[in-house]
Amino acid sequence: MKIANIIVLIVVFALYYQQSYAQQPGKTDAIYSGLPWYDQYGKVVSAHGANIIQEKNLFYLFGEAHTDTSNAFVGFNCYSSKDLYNWKFEKIALPVQSSGKLGPNRIGERPKVMKNSKTGEFIMYMHVDTLGYKDQFVGYAVSKNITGPYQFQGALLFNGKPIKKWDMGTFQDDDGKGYLLTHGGVIHQLSDDYKSIVAETNKQIASGFESPALFRKGNTYYFIGSHLTSWEKNDNYYYTSTSLSGPWIARGLIAPKDQLTWNSQSTFVLKIAGSKDTTYLFMGDRWSYPRQLSAATYVWQPIKFYGDSISLPSYLDAWNIDLKTGLTVEKNSIYQTIEHDDKRIQYIGDWARSVVEALPVSRSKAENASCSFTFSGTQIGLQTVVLPDNGYANIILTDKNGKVVVKNLIDMYSKVPAARIVFLSPVLPKAKYKLTISTAGERPNWTDKKKISYGSTANNITISKLMIKE
Ligand code: GAL
Repeated sequence: MKIANIIVLIVVFALYYQQSYAQQPGKTDAIYSGLPWYDQYGKVVSAHGANIIQEKNLFYLFGEAHTDTSNAFVGFNCYSSKDLYNWKFEKIALPVQSSGKLGPNRIGERPKVMKNSKTGEFIMYMHVDTLGYKDQFVGYAVSKNITGPYQFQGALLFNGKPIKKWDMGTFQDDDGKGYLLTHGGVIHQLSDDYKSIVAETNKQIASGFESPALFRKGNTYYFIGSHLTSWEKNDNYYYTSTSLSGPWIARGLIAPKDQLTWNSQSTFVLKIAGSKDTTYLFMGDRWSYPRQLSAATYVWQPIKFYGDSISLPSYLDAWNIDLKTGLTVEKNSIYQTIEHDDKRIQYIGDWARSVVEALPVSRSKAENASCSFTFSGTQIGLQTVVLPDNGYANIILTDKNGKVVVKNLIDMYSKVPAARIVFLSPVLPKAKYKLTISTAGERPNWTDKKKISYGSTANNITISKLMIKE
């Protein structure tokens, strides 16, 4: 065999070996909230402050790419999916620019893409800012292809002036008109080509009202937003109106009080019309500062309607949507559970058994405390009780040769205690694996620009159950 052929074989083998533990396309069987999702390369899906548009039977997800080291803009990612469960990384739709307002050490957040049916172009809108959030405006970028690369055009102008707002969103009405939403509930109508603003459709409804997300069902518009608590989650609320210019009627919270919108912040609502029903998918972010790449997750829940009231009445760990009919159903767990005190789990270091939220758990905040479990199967998951004094846990899954299959930082913090699934491995070839969970010795915590501090009070990690699929 020629040397060149041997090299090709080695490269093919190396690529196969490297990717053999990535999430296999089509293997994720539901929408799971609150845990890292893996793309076709086994990398965590990083697309926060996102939106989705549908084009030729594919869903395209656009969101903020993050790192674990800084809050600086590193681009907006684009993923695609046939089923809303399995996400394929397409490309960085808008990369960091070499200089300028979306250059290095700048802020770029909440990308939203809309297709302009008159020009056939895709227009992306975003919040542009300094690293300290002191000079914000709404920017836009343009591409002929849905996945990009989008060309950054600078500020979106209204009468020659930029819109100096931070949190923003978009809404496309049934007649094709496009609108820009900004915090406070302000709505601006876009020009026919979507590249400038022609009118202020609605004035401020409320101070705060960040992360604006608007959708229409029948003749009613629903306008969702959050309070202003930096990366911390709060009880999101909404307004309804039969006209985009109001009057907007305050309708209260979108999830039960004090659940902090199931520990998330709104970003977008995707309408999925089927033959039997139309589902409105609430998309929220479960931020995890400062480890937003590894540990921030997605809370995607179907909105329930009661007349013209909306709610996310209960938290669905996992649910299915039939894209043909538009019907949704909660997914029953398919996992065998192993309790935290099962003899087969090997605890090392200082751990305490306790009962939190009526659930027996093992807890530790000691340095180098870990627990590990060896099993034979195709998938493993972890249930915890998220708590205000929990921090990050390191998760490492290795195969029988000790090769790392998955390595992830998991956030176990929440201001509101709750029993939650926080990790599910990709679906793997059936074999023997070892899962090790250890204290990371750090926690989500930060201060906002007013120096108010937020986040967890300690570095505990909490083990409730393991979940196994044979
Ligand atoms: C939130 C906002 C996020 C991000 C964050 C920074 O209020 O919704 O998009 O800007 O503040 O602290």
